[in-house]
Amino acid sequence: MAGATTHRLLRMSDRDALARVAAIVDEARASLATAEDEAALEAWRTRVLGRSGALTRVLRGIGSLDAEDRRAVGQAANAAKETLEGALEARRMALEHAALEHHATAPLDVTLPGRPRRPGHLHPVTRTLRDILDIFGRMGFAAIEGPEVELDDYNFGRLRIPEHHPARDMWDTFWIDEEVDGRTPLLLRTHTSPMQIRYLDRHAPPVRIVVPGRCYRYEATDATHEWMMQQVEVLAVDEGVSLADLKGTLQEFARQMFGPERRVLLRNSYFPFVEPGVELAVDCFNCPGDDPRCPVCRGSGWLEIMGAGMVHPEIVSASGYDAERYTGFAAGMGVERIAMLKYGVEDIRTFYANDLRFLRQF
Ligand code: DAH
Repeated sequence: MAGATTHRLLRMSDRDALARVAAIVDEARASLATAEDEAALEAWRTRVLGRSGALTRVLRGIGSLDAEDRRAVGQAANAAKETLEGALEARRMALEHAALEHHATAPLDVTLPGRPRRPGHLHPVTRTLRDILDIFGRMGFAAIEGPEVELDDYNFGRLRIPEHHPARDMWDTFWIDEEVDGRTPLLLRTHTSPMQIRYLDRHAPPVRIVVPGRCYRYEATDATHEWMMQQVEVLAVDEGVSLADLKGTLQEFARQMFGPERRVLLRNSYFPFVEPGVELAVDCFNCPGDDPRCPVCRGSGWLEIMGAGMVHPEIVSASGYDAERYTGFAAGMGVERIAMLKYGVEDIRTFYANDLRFLRQF
């Protein structure tokens, strides 16, 4: 059979051979354009440029042409071979490029179901804290922060809670076994009240501050207790500040936080650093006030939201001010407790368990 092919080529004229090369190139280009993947490119290469491919067969046949024709056809066939090899490479690159492009800008299929993106949002306790600071900020209270690692003296002593005083039992404490500037004992502050002392020591009245911050207590956790919680301390000291100012300020706070109808109730209580000491409650915003199944007030009609009172005169004078002239009120509230009331959360531990199913509800 090889002989028959040779025989046929033998009788091919120069023009026929050149036309054949041109036809091979045309056909090869057309079929290359339809090759869509590596396997198709490889099959094309074998068929066109391979050892028994169309062009190779032309080149093999030129030995039987006369010298001049041989040169012309040989050159044309070699040029065609180069052209087609280049075309193969170009096609391969075009396909790779298209694959990358497709990846980057896949065509939009509007029938596909959407892929929801969940935007992040503030933690409910953070949101509550910001609400509290905003409300007091509008009433002229500046927000100040203080240290979480505190001296016993500020956390207890100067708040009139000396060592061995039974009131210390109100705050189970994490003690720290180190000293700062030779001063001990150190602890993790159990409340934000020590900032009352630190601030009054350096700032003369009139004083109007709120102090947000983390506090720590060495206690067993349950639905209403955590070993870490956030508080906001409120302190106002000036000439002529009275219990009525305390009540009015906190009433306005309660209205803005829990609703415009809210009423507040001051109940007698005891804290060593205030006299008199009170507990502040707001009327239930969740039920008429007598529903025993109400998860917020449990039928009592009132929600305790903070401790408060008139700053003890000894605290005012210990910072160097005339306690006859300057009086003040103070209050301290748990941010998680307020968030629980506001959002109807029943277990404080869920705030810091980092369970997204819980956090996404807010
Ligand atoms: N520091 C108190 C506590 O953590 C709360 C408190 C009560 C703060 C009365 C006050 C106050 O400023 O006047 O339990």
